[in-house]
Amino acid sequence: TQHFIVIGNPIAHSKSPEIHQVFATQVGLDIHYERQYCPDDSDSFTSVVEAFFHGGGVGANVTVPFKQVAYDCCVARGGLSEHAKVAGAVNTLLLNKALLERGVPMTEALYGDNTDGQGLVNHIVSLGWPLKQARVAIIGAGGAARGAVLPLIEAGVQQLTIANRTLSKAQTLVTELSAASPHIGAHDIQTCSMHDLTGQYDLIINATSIGLSGDTLPLAEDLNCQYAYDMMYGRTLPFLQHFKARTAQISDGYGMLIGQAALSFERWTGYTIDVAQATEALQQKP
Ligand code: ATR
Repeated sequence: TQHFIVIGNPIAHSKSPEIHQVFATQVGLDIHYERQYCPDDSDSFTSVVEAFFHGGGVGANVTVPFKQVAYDCCVARGGLSEHAKVAGAVNTLLLNKALLERGVPMTEALYGDNTDGQGLVNHIVSLGWPLKQARVAIIGAGGAARGAVLPLIEAGVQQLTIANRTLSKAQTLVTELSAASPHIGAHDIQTCSMHDLTGQYDLIINATSIGLSGDTLPLAEDLNCQYAYDMMYGRTLPFLQHFKARTAQISDGYGMLIGQAALSFERWTGYTIDVAQATEALQQKP
């Protein structure tokens, strides 16, 4: 049996165990995947991670509020994928086997990846929504937006605008991302405040944390798109209703959740997941 955990606070609501169990069943692997609560401080996080891998654990997912802490942990002790570096956040932890085989101690061989943005892109592609040459607006300039930018550019997005309530945060984000990745630096990313986000886009992505707060985004009257994506999932989201009423195709972020999980599972086990089939299997569960 291979052991996995998802570390978060709170963690009781996490769907990761059932998602990964469906993946394991699909490829015929025997796994045990648990929710791991952790007190909200970096020392506790480090202890949990070390205890898990010392105990023979294969892989850990990291969720709110530890993605940046996990990034710091990997900077200090091991390595980071390009996507984790640029995102400044880690959602997938594993041990670097090549380093372990060379005799490096386990605490120095922690490797962090970030599959969130690629999970988003894979889901959008699976919906049949075109990204190549697309004009895309991201609303929000926090961690979720940060993780989405590089994968979107890699997917061939032509024009990218980042709109945020606090304009200066969007500007800082673009400056930091451009410095972190030549791929992003070569791209001319626009920034604007929420009320200046107007006109026609192919795709608008909500990457704010507003989804479940009951507040609504101040979307301009003449802002339109063909496709609207909310990185949140769950209840009916006002952002999606707004654009559905204007005949856009819409999706919430449940497919992104499965997509990022599939990529984590693939990093850990080497198996490739049929995400469409896994999604169907999950829908059939009570
Ligand atoms: P996450 O890691 O989920 O992205 P975050 O880093 O706290 O969370 O970022 C939250 C994002 O949601 C920010 O872009 C924030 O806008 P500000 O930078 O102006 O704070 C945005 N956000 C949160 N609540 C909002 C609201 N009520 N209206 C508009 N934007 C909101």
